[in-house]
Amino acid sequence: ELSFFFPKEQTLAVIKPDTLEEHKDEIIEQVQDEGFTISQMKETVLSREMAEEFYKEHRGKPFFNQLVDYMCRGPCLMMILSKENAVEEWRAMMGPTDPVEAQEKAPDSLRARFAKDILENSVHGSSSQEQAMEKIKFVFGDIAVGPDGALQVDADT
Ligand code: TYD
Repeated sequence: ELSFFFPKEQTLAVIKPDTLEEHKDEIIEQVQDEGFTISQMKETVLSREMAEEFYKEHRGKPFFNQLVDYMCRGPCLMMILSKENAVEEWRAMMGPTDPVEAQEKAPDSLRARFAKDILENSVHGSSSQEQAMEKIKFVFGDIAVGPDGALQVDADT
């Protein structure tokens, strides 16, 4: 077991409200089959303020308000996923932002299968380790995840 020397990476994965309602169990099962450890998970209904903060990088863009509406429509499932190259691997599992492109380039991806359009695109994943740490802290508070992917210190959420 070399995980002591090669600690696993973490990413924040979110299943958005419509997809959570329709495909929750199937996606959780696939996440585990793909070798991710679900280090922490919780269902949350985001307030508008939280959704705006979560997507603050997109504030001012033409789709921003609709994106916030979509995220607040019902519970989201927030997950900390641990695996080597978790950021990249979860983004590969999600597929491209636009489901039209996803269906072309990654027909087995979650967005190819479940996204309705570029806005209602079913899942979120951090795009870098730095983003992952920031968003994990935002959603779960201060927690630590061990090299085996197990949660070490509980969140104060
Ligand atoms: P972005 O961070 O570019 O994509 P990703 O989720 O693949 O990292 O965009 C964030 C979300 O904003 C995206 O998941 C859906 C929404 N969005 C639109 O509605 N229209 C757009 O043209 C883009 C680029 C994003």
